[in-house]
Order: sequence, then C-alpha cells, then structure tokens
Amino acid sequence: MALSDLYSNVQILLRWVHVLAGIIWIGHLYFFNFVNVPFQGKIAPDVKKAVNPELLPRALFWFRWGAMFTFVIGLVLFTQLYMYQGGGHFGPTSLFHDEQGLTSRAVWILGGMVLGTIMWFNVWFIIWPAQQKIIRGVRDGKPADPALPKRALMASRLNAYLSGPMLFGMLAASHYGGMNLATAVVAIVLGLAVIWHFIGISPKAGSSI
Ligand code: HEM
Repeated sequence: MALSDLYSNVQILLRWVHVLAGIIWIGHLYFFNFVNVPFQGKIAPDVKKAVNPELLPRALFWFRWGAMFTFVIGLVLFTQLYMYQGGGHFGPTSLFHDEQGLTSRAVWILGGMVLGTIMWFNVWFIIWPAQQKIIRGVRDGKPADPALPKRALMASRLNAYLSGPMLFGMLAASHYGGMNLATAVVAIVLGLAVIWHFIGISPKAGSSI
C-alpha cells in the first residue's frame, strides 16, 4: 500500500471518519440510556430546570450530528466497496455478489446497515424533535405533551438495543466472513443480551462511590 493508491487511501479515511462519528453517536446514545435516564429520575424539578437546558442541547448536538456523519459516510463507504467497479463505472462488485448470489460479507453489512438506518431515522425524526419540545417546555416552565418523553425514551431504548446487533454486522462484514442462520442468531441474541444487561445494571452502576 502506498500513498499513491488513491482507492485504498480514500477507503481508510472513510472508515476512520465513519468509526469516529459512530463512536460520537453511540457514545452519546449510551450516555443517555445508561447514565442520564437513571440520573433524571434522581434529581429535583428545580435542578432539572437549571441543568437540562444547558446539558441536553450540548449532548444532543454531538448525538444527532454524529448520527448524520456516520450514516452518510457509511453510505459512501458502501458505494465504494460494493457498488464501484473502478474507472468511473458503478455497479455491484465481487464483494457484493458472486456465482452463488449475495456474498456473506454483503449480507452482514446489509443487515447492519438496515439496523443503522432505522437508528438514524429514530434520531432525526423521533428523538430530536421530541427533545426539542421537551427542553423548550422545561426552560419556559410549560411542560410539553406528556406523551413526548415516553416516545423519545422508547425510540432511544430501541436504538440502544439495535446497536448491539448493528455493530456486530458492521464488524463481521470484513472481519468474520461466514454468515448463516446460526451466526445471525448469535449476533442478534448476543447483541441484545449485552445491551439488556447494561440497561439492567445502569440505575445502580457507579452510584455507590
Ligand atoms: C447508520 C448507518 C450505517 C451505515 C450505512 C454503515 C455502513 C458501513 C459500511 C459500508 C462499512 C464497511 C463494511 C465492509 O468493510 O465491508 C461499515 C463498517 C463499519 N462500521 Fe458502519 N455503518 C453504519 C452505522 C455504523 C455505526 C453507528 C457504527 C458505530 C460505531 C459503525 C461502525 C462501523 C465499524 C466499526 C465498521 C468496521 C470498520 C472496519 O473494520 O474497517 N457503523 N459501516
């Protein structure tokens, strides 16, 4: 590999930005689910009024833009790897399909991308609009529609759960290979179980220091 190998250099830069943005996004998702939800249950309304309009818009800024960059760069990376044949020609590559149909790599990444896209949609079209209204309500002392926090929490919880299998698919595409029903079930069960465990321990985690 040399610096003159444009295809590979573009690819490593795309991977790097994609994962960097993904960490920013999913890091904040875990902050909301594992730290902030239990924290909000412990503080008094006047503390909420002082803290939340300062804290949450900052966290939501990194959260939603992390999601957007991860998603867009992920689609560019997908195009380069699976849909670009070189020489200015686009179309499914040998990483995408072979004589037997879709490759295992393509199935892993498509699964991960479907979950990631649902998560991106939830961030931009459910969580962020609901949070804007909730924060404005707290700031102005006019509580927002009580259905909003519930809707935002459900979408956020769903995203936390989906992140487990989603990340498995991202990594398995180029680091695992084999894909069949058993490996898919392991990815889903393991991914969901880890997040379920973290959510379960989060009200107490770190509270006794
Ligand atoms: C939102 C929709 C997303 C799309 C469309 C997407 C797309 C992709 C694509 C096309 C690849 C390359 C797969 C390959 O090498 O065959 C990839 C890899 C990867 N993605 Fe995503 N992704 C998304 C979300 C995420 C998120 C939220 C994270 C969280 C950190 C993430 C982390 C990764 C990682 C760690 C890799 C492997 C990098 C490597 O080993 O080189 N992705 N993604």
